Amino acid sequence: MPVITEIEDLKRIYKRRVPKMFFDYCESGSWTEQTFRENSSDFDKIYLRQRVAVDMNGRSTATQMIGQDVSMPVALAPVGSTGMQWADGEILACQAAHEAGTQFTLSTMSVCSVEDVAAHVDKPFWFQLYVMRDWDFVVRMIERAKEAKCSALVLTLDLQILGQRHKDLKNGLTVPLKPSLSNIADLSTKWSWAAAMAKTPRKSFGNIVGHVKGVSDLSSLSVWAAESFDPSLDWEKVRQIKDLWGGPLILKGIIDAEDAKLALNSGADAIIVSNHGGRQLDGALSSIRALPAILDTVGDKMEVHLDSGIRSGQDVLKALAMGAKGTYIGRAAIYGLGAMGKKGVSTALEVIRNELDKSMAFCGRKTIKDLDRDILLIPEGFEGRWQPA
Ligand code: GLV
Repeated sequence: MPVITEIEDLKRIYKRRVPKMFFDYCESGSWTEQTFRENSSDFDKIYLRQRVAVDMNGRSTATQMIGQDVSMPVALAPVGSTGMQWADGEILACQAAHEAGTQFTLSTMSVCSVEDVAAHVDKPFWFQLYVMRDWDFVVRMIERAKEAKCSALVLTLDLQILGQRHKDLKNGLTVPLKPSLSNIADLSTKWSWAAAMAKTPRKSFGNIVGHVKGVSDLSSLSVWAAESFDPSLDWEKVRQIKDLWGGPLILKGIIDAEDAKLALNSGADAIIVSNHGGRQLDGALSSIRALPAILDTVGDKMEVHLDSGIRSGQDVLKALAMGAKGTYIGRAAIYGLGAMGKKGVSTALEVIRNELDKSMAFCGRKTIKDLDRDILLIPEGFEGRWQPA
């Protein structure tokens, strides 16, 4: 067994074990991938201040996200088609997150359905909602999430149309995977993935199949998204969804301070500063660069979380010290899942928890609530001095 010491180790194994089509789906940004790259490289521009001779006994990464206890403020982000990365992936990832004391967010576009995940875990998880043209589906999906006892609704606002990811089009991405002349050689080397997939009945979009009207081709993600996602989603619909749901609501995909204000006015409990992992608007600011202006606008009135670009506990520490109350990992967990199933997700979370804990200690801080900008060295101009509109 290889020794795993960092997220990059999991990514290397993941690349070897999972069909190229699904690796590429995970490891892509839209168009030139500038935002995808900068989500991570912008973290490297921020430095941490080491402090010494501070008693480091009694440290803890425990805190709360939206009033719910977490062993560390690092939840799993919703990732579509997770059950294609590894058989039964959503169930395994949710179990790993819960065992690590943190939270899992199930995507609408998951392979395992919300009922199926609920039947295989013993604590509530969060459900991410995409708004479809079929409003009856939206209403029923919210009901299903309630019946499955989900403890927060994460409503995604930045994917009513799909950003173009070149590799998905070139690979002819489908769910389930269809063996073809072009991928047969690749598949012949991915036998452990194939053996696990052969054993599971879960191979398509569990929340969707049999539940959405008028879907002509579910296997082509880009065609299906173009046909089914509701391009008319607006703040009025957000308010309707909030009323239908009635529980904790997190709005995902806010990258601009003006939208953060509108999110606050919509009555949401929290927002996730996110550019969808650089998969939607290429050329958008990285999440960590967008975060300060959003915190200045709404940070004292609502909980602000962040995703996109996090690959280490040091990245988490930087986001928290800037003022985020929670963070999410998407790809870092998928690398673990594709590398070694549930154990890989547990390992990814443990790697990040360990990095967060040690780095906090080096900065002279023992708990999450002690974190503030004082431990950061942020270069002048990091937040941008943009021309007024
Ligand atoms: C869906 O959430 C995607 O980014 O592919």
